[in-house]
Amino acid sequence: MSIATDPDRAPARSHLYAMGWTDEDMRRPKVGIASTWTGTMPCNLTHRELAAHVADGVRRAGGTPMEFNTIAVSDNLTMGTPGMRASLVSREVIADSIELMGRAHQFDAIVAIVGCDKTAPAAIMALSRLDVPSVILYSGSMMPGRWRDRDVTIQDMWEALGERSVGKLTQDDVDDLARHACPGAGTCAAQYTANTMGAICDFLGLSPFGVSDIPAVAPSKNEAAVRIGEVVMDALARDARPSRVITEASLHNAIVSVAAMGGSTNSVLHLLAIAREAGIALEIDDIDRICHQIPIVAGVKPAGPHSAADLWRAGGTSLVVRRLLDAGLLREDVTLVDGRTLAEVAESAQEAPGQQVVKTVADPVKGPGALAVLRGSLAPDGCVLKLGGKPDFVFTGPARVFDGEEACFAAIQERRIVDGEVVIVRYEGPAGGPGMREMLSITGALVGQGLNVALVTDGRFSGVSHGLVIGHVAPEAYRGGPLALVQDGDTVVIDSAARVLDLRVDAAELEARATAWVRPDRPVERGVFAKYVATVGSASDGAVTI
Ligand code: FES
Repeated sequence: MSIATDPDRAPARSHLYAMGWTDEDMRRPKVGIASTWTGTMPCNLTHRELAAHVADGVRRAGGTPMEFNTIAVSDNLTMGTPGMRASLVSREVIADSIELMGRAHQFDAIVAIVGCDKTAPAAIMALSRLDVPSVILYSGSMMPGRWRDRDVTIQDMWEALGERSVGKLTQDDVDDLARHACPGAGTCAAQYTANTMGAICDFLGLSPFGVSDIPAVAPSKNEAAVRIGEVVMDALARDARPSRVITEASLHNAIVSVAAMGGSTNSVLHLLAIAREAGIALEIDDIDRICHQIPIVAGVKPAGPHSAADLWRAGGTSLVVRRLLDAGLLREDVTLVDGRTLAEVAESAQEAPGQQVVKTVADPVKGPGALAVLRGSLAPDGCVLKLGGKPDFVFTGPARVFDGEEACFAAIQERRIVDGEVVIVRYEGPAGGPGMREMLSITGALVGQGLNVALVTDGRFSGVSHGLVIGHVAPEAYRGGPLALVQDGDTVVIDSAARVLDLRVDAAELEARATAWVRPDRPVERGVFAKYVATVGSASDGAVTI
């Protein structure tokens, strides 16, 4: 019996009357609208406005909206600080909070409005647990900034720090760039983690193609939000619940989208976590296998020269679908939340005349291999190499070992890192960090200085990061992985074609080091980090907490 008619739920009805509801409102399907609005970052700044538009759409289509909010943590604002440890942890908190609201209020359907990096995977995880008809509205990218006659994004901002350290830019230049790099609301303005996850929402089938691409400040975003309210009511009528939408086929397509658009390494963690929530078998090596076959066709930064707004103008992810379908690289046996087929999406793509952003599979931006999963004596459970379409290579060098990001960043700033070294940053894993900090301050500084080094860590990388970077090394150092045993000067070998990350140290010597190893103390005995350390699993399983 529903809340509208159950005699014993009269006390509950009294609170709904208190919010202005009518009897008719109570009889209609209740649609939860989960917003990740926060006034602490530009990324999700539009969510309250979008939520109001979604609510209008829900009402128009015969439902009763119930808005609620959850948290979000900005990666850019916390980067390089202890606060970055909260970022990946926030994915679990957001997922749990959306799930709890869904379980408490028993919504008939849900719209989740997502933006900054962890909000999309968190929402997908929660919706998968709740399994009521659901739609995700990705709030959209920031426009690029304009500085010295060129488009700039947050990537330029971080690399400017490295350029400052070698005298290419002054502090005044950096400060001036900071005033121009980010012109308004929206997520980081190219194919970094947030936009990678926005595309994953499309390719998984949870967001209607054509909506995620619209930049956050474009007027058409509000119109699209109204439409999302109508779509979720239609999804409710068709019972398009996540268990029917997120399938082995749609996960395949989501991985293809990461590869084809040169997406972020963070997507590996999130895809593994989503698969786990959806009860679909997905191993880290499956992601490598799929990525290995897919060239980069969208020339969006960091793999190409363009911004997310350029991709939108060129034809957006619908055009990417057309290219991939033409080459037979997508599974078509999928359910999209708006009821279309992928062929209909491809048909609807509006390619801008003369656009240079989305190329073809036959003539791609870069060859296959956005990401690669390596294993070996330094990463028995795997790690993720940001290949970025580079040709295969072997890099052999002496280790330079740092316990934590700060020590490494200081060494780079003091010019103590030299070409040819393999920079190891450890005790930054899921439990050891805790929270797998992103190493953008380090990668930005290395790129800015033009150093030819490799970086290996049990932490993560920002989607902005590029260069020879390997993250998510598992098992992590804090849990006794081989990374904990590396010493300065040890030889490390990276072989991308063989998918190998090896530590070339004699077995007896390694055993002696393992015997002598003592786990470093982590001062996180209470609160959210203590709960996280106690429950988080390996990066090779998505760093989930269940
Ligand atoms: Fe929020 Fe980049 S920091 S999207």
